[in-house]
Amino acid sequence: MVKLVVGNWKMNGCLNDISFMQTIAETADTLNNQLKTVICVPSVFIHHFSNHIKTHHAIFEIGGQNCHHLKTGAYTGEVSADMLKDVGAHYVIVGHSERRTDCYESDIIVHDKANTAFDADLIPIICVGETHEQYIQGISKKIIVEQIKHSVPHTVKKFAIGYEPIWAIGTGLIPQFDEIAAIHLTIYETLKGLLGTETTNKVDILYGGSVKPSNACDIANIDYVNGALVGGASLNASDFTQIMTAFAH
Ligand code: 13P
Repeated sequence: MVKLVVGNWKMNGCLNDISFMQTIAETADTLNNQLKTVICVPSVFIHHFSNHIKTHHAIFEIGGQNCHHLKTGAYTGEVSADMLKDVGAHYVIVGHSERRTDCYESDIIVHDKANTAFDADLIPIICVGETHEQYIQGISKKIIVEQIKHSVPHTVKKFAIGYEPIWAIGTGLIPQFDEIAAIHLTIYETLKGLLGTETTNKVDILYGGSVKPSNACDIANIDYVNGALVGGASLNASDFTQIMTAFAH
């Protein structure tokens, strides 16, 4: 399976970052269809960047970082999945831990966001992850299974899962490689139980949390890791292209 590397710029970047996008597009080209790359930018930049990378359709695409769980309505300041699609997004992150924590998004809201993404013909990247306390208690698997069961809609459509241990985000810490393998296998088995083998085999299960050029090759080689969800290192073209190359081999 061709792996998927997703950059999540969070609340960073500006219109001038077009040369960054060009570097990523050129790297995606040189990787000869061995990798799919997505950069999830603040929604105000999606149209601008997606226009510039039009010719790289399918190997390099632009995504959003969130969408509302309803289609339209009186929700001042919100952006719908249809709007993201309209301006050129192909993917959208839903349920990132920063939104689950800062905006009190529950599993059911994340589930509904994923459904509106499907309706808009976007591919949702549904995020799950345990806190450090839960990790220390040894209940990571249980937490992830619950999040998957309640956040993932019953579907045959294409989606991705981002497994991001909250304590690994922006800290430089990552779980042991065998722990990542065990959680990814658990996610795979849980999805298989919910959606069947055919749908599950199309799901990209991404690892996120302190992915860097220095650990990308090791992470890319872990069983059931189909790609990466990259925060900080997606803001630096050299770091990000090294991670892309690691996941393309
Ligand atoms: P870092 O790569 O900065 O740890 O962030 C991970 C993340 O939250 C991506 O969504």
